[in-house]
Amino acid sequence: MKTNESKKEVQYVAFSTQKGGAGKTTLTVLIASYLHYVKGYTVAIVDCDYPQHSISEMRERDFKMVADDEYYKGMAYEQFTRLEGKKAYPVIESSTEKALNDADELCEQGEYDFVFFDLPGTMNNRDLVLALASMDYIIAPIAADRVVMESTLNYMIVVRDNIVNTGKSNIKAMRLLWNMVDGREKSELYEVYEAVIKELGFTTLESFIPDSTRFRREQSINHKALFRSTLFPADKSLVKGSNIDALTDELLELLK
Ligand SMILES: Nc1ncnc2c1ncn2[C@@H]1O[C@H](COP(=O)(O)OP(=O)(O)OP(=O)(O)O)[C@@H](O)[C@H]1O
Ligand SMILES: [Mg+2]
Repeated sequence: MKTNESKKEVQYVAFSTQKGGAGKTTLTVLIASYLHYVKGYTVAIVDCDYPQHSISEMRERDFKMVADDEYYKGMAYEQFTRLEGKKAYPVIESSTEKALNDADELCEQGEYDFVFFDLPGTMNNRDLVLALASMDYIIAPIAADRVVMESTLNYMIVVRDNIVNTGKSNIKAMRLLWNMVDGREKSELYEVYEAVIKELGFTTLESFIPDSTRFRREQSINHKALFRSTLFPADKSLVKGSNIDALTDELLELLK
């Protein structure tokens, strides 16, 4: 049961595509942290990326670093105080098979605005189809590269024709999201690709994510401004120029 009369409705969201390395995990963490620690929403992540469990592992690293490092300990304390005792969001180590049960259980125990699912890409199993059908929103990261385009659009078509069009899914919208955009502006190439995307009946989010080394920056002993963390939002200095803020606002507009 996803809704409970006394509770507000939670939205299930997945950054999802079959294309490996498209930015699913990174975007999940960045957006979840931004919503939870900056925007005042309550989120959770269900990590179904078996067996890597990259977000659960990231959370473990993040926690360990806070425990072992006075600088991050201070930062965590300052944030905890500023957010009036708000805790870090849960990251549930799960699998495609258990994902929905785990999320439903979580939502029975607490109130969440958004639950993000980091799902694997291979569409060859029933559990993934069921999990996707239970999402409210699917955001597929895409890059302006022929191979990535083909693979991602194929994925969108499969999800639309086999899941959305059955009328039995919860999916309210699917969007494509340009990730790893080279340079500050999208080039003409994007217009060509966007025409193809439109032709197929799909919509791209207006916000796009630039290609930048900051997307690999995590908590580290040098205490440089951090970007990708499950315990803190991306540092303001790095949010600037990353479009994470614009993307979050656009998603909130879509999801509300
Ligand atoms: N906008 C970006 N600019 C630069 N690097 C990026 C960007 N987005 C993601 N990356 C990097 O690309 C790599 C792949 O990203 P990520 O692990 O999030 O992809 P994924 O879709 O989850 O991959 P997988 O299919 O393996 O789960 C990571 O090293 C990440 O830091
Ligand atoms: Mg991943």
